[in-house]
Amino acid sequence: MNHFLAITDYKPEEIQSLLDLAIRLKAEVGSGGNAPLFKGKVLGMIFQKPSLRTRVSFDMAMRHMGGDALYLSPDEIGLGKRESIADVARVLSGYVHALMARVFDHAHVLELAQWASIPVINGLSDYNHPCQGMADALTIQEKFGKAKGLNVTFVGDGNNVAVSLMHVSVLLGWNFTLASPDGYDITPPAVDLARRIAAGTGSALKFCRDPHEAVKYAHVIYTDTWTSMGQEEETAKREKVFPPFQVNARLVAEADKDVIVMHCLPAHRNHELTDEVADGPHSVIFPQAHNRLHAQKAILARLFGVA
Ligand code: CP
Ligand code: NVA
Repeated sequence: MNHFLAITDYKPEEIQSLLDLAIRLKAEVGSGGNAPLFKGKVLGMIFQKPSLRTRVSFDMAMRHMGGDALYLSPDEIGLGKRESIADVARVLSGYVHALMARVFDHAHVLELAQWASIPVINGLSDYNHPCQGMADALTIQEKFGKAKGLNVTFVGDGNNVAVSLMHVSVLLGWNFTLASPDGYDITPPAVDLARRIAAGTGSALKFCRDPHEAVKYAHVIYTDTWTSMGQEEETAKREKVFPPFQVNARLVAEADKDVIVMHCLPAHRNHELTDEVADGPHSVIFPQAHNRLHAQKAILARLFGVA
């Protein structure tokens, strides 16, 4: 592994191997802690947008394994403004051992990877959120095991989180359904890629407008904010379009009886997800958030070549 930019850069067995490693590293935490495999290593963390989970889970992943992390705020770096992306990448390559970047434009994380001589991890772009997708897959496998043929349904905006969930689902042989309003579909190139992978793994893909149809037989119902970071000027318009796509108790009752409800967080409670569901018996939103730590330890370990 050179970089971690998209889940689709890897084969199903590589993704499964990362998940198996994450489970092993998670178990170690509960039995005395991780070995200091990242001793002497520092992760540079470039953020162009706010973060709670990504920032803290990467920082703690490095510390648990004997390394360190450096937070670089949007104002400090001025990525592509104060200094070109190519220059930032080449300078930081001499100071730290890997980079994690949260950017607006996906092209910018690709450009960092192109110029950096150290591994680059995508910590969310406008296209995808692969670290989230790995934590999501870990959470799903913890609940349902490695069975293929699970029904994973995303209800809401066909956004970056939906893309990574779709891609990890088809790589692992799960069926993926999206229910989104007209105009809020997943981008065609991301869907085409999913179709090509699904042809090899046997997953079914479905795209519809009706959340009720989409959650029938679902083992996983997933939702995310109606307005992602960078789309704030569309908030009022989106608040009018998305209410029929709210994940509430009535919708959850239409799914499989053992359905789990997921959200990458931050949640806008009683907009895309009601309090009743977020804090109810089907919700796994907090274990899911905690799994970011374990999934990212595995990604870092592979990129550093230590596990
Ligand atoms: N889910 C997630 O990436 O959260 P943050 O934006 O807080 O990092
Ligand atoms: N889709 C959301 C995810 C936040 C973790 C966003 O991009 O803002």
